[in-house]
Amino acid sequence: MLGPVILAASRSDRMRRLISAAPVTKQVVDRFIPGETVDDVLPIVKDLADRGLELTMDVVGEDITTPEQAAAARDAYLELIERLGPLQLGTRAEMSVKLSMFGQALPGGHELALTNVRPVVEAAAAIGTTVTLDAEDHTTLDSMFAIHEELRKDFPQTGCVIQAYLFRTEADARRLSAAGSRVRLVKGAYKEPASVAHQDKREIDKAYVRILRTLMEGDGYPMVATHDPRLIAIAEELARRAGRKNDQYEFQMLYGIRTEEQQRLAAEGHRVRVYTAYGTDWYGYFMRRLAEKPANLRFFLRSMISH
Ligand code: FDA
Repeated sequence: MLGPVILAASRSDRMRRLISAAPVTKQVVDRFIPGETVDDVLPIVKDLADRGLELTMDVVGEDITTPEQAAAARDAYLELIERLGPLQLGTRAEMSVKLSMFGQALPGGHELALTNVRPVVEAAAAIGTTVTLDAEDHTTLDSMFAIHEELRKDFPQTGCVIQAYLFRTEADARRLSAAGSRVRLVKGAYKEPASVAHQDKREIDKAYVRILRTLMEGDGYPMVATHDPRLIAIAEELARRAGRKNDQYEFQMLYGIRTEEQQRLAAEGHRVRVYTAYGTDWYGYFMRRLAEKPANLRFFLRSMISH
């Protein structure tokens, strides 16, 4: 039951200051976030691509408080895309963005986020790749889906994320499973109330399977984002039953988590995309990774004590 406590701490400025200042934090953070700058992360991009893996790149950050920070986030993505261009990876390296980092929660935030994200999507298209809009807490999703729909008018390959724990998602999946759409299905990483989301892990897994079936039987491109071995096996089976070939869906996992499984699936001929986050504002991303697995938190606390 530590997960919700850690997720609450992920929104606390006091905890952010305490944890960021702990000398041992960096060692643990490095497992999930392999660098702070584009220069740190480009060798990792090349290494993963050489090993037959694909990438989705995230410049970490969220919940910014000024339009200037939102513009800086946009510029960080533009720099990344400019540096990725010469590698000529095309869709093998796409971007993931959080609209809160582009100003979504500020006054006039819906328009601001759309204005900031559009040039990123344009730049990605210019180097032959695409962008997926991450799903944040449930209060942000109507705006995210509206921005997704708007961007798809000019860039139909723009993807979005749906979260199995939310009651609304089965309907969203039906709406998004039409031809040409790219949809990443995740379990969901935020602390959500019982009025909008399943709280029980088994219920979330059951919903994941139902939604996955809708996506696999639909005409879009499902992106199966999970490390859960049972769900990975079910995805393979649902894809087979729906008559999908290996290049008609993909698996996605986070950098630093179940790396052997990533490599095993790729060696079996599956498309596997690794969500690779980098940057200085890693606190929220890192805390969600701790919340997902109590062993990560134990390791972190043990390291702090023995340091
Ligand atoms: P589950 O949590 O049941 O884990 C299954 C197994 O995977 C565990 O037993 C463990 O072995 C391993 N594992 C999982 N998490 C681990 C961790 N942190 N450290 C070590 N081992 C771990 N969420 C969201 O709300 N919005 C989003 O946009 C995204 N985007 C996204 C992209 C990609 C590519 C992935 C893989 C995930 C996300 N998520 C997300 C996060 C997602 O909602 C979820 O919190 C995590 O994927 C963990 O759930 P699993 O499906 O892996 O199952």
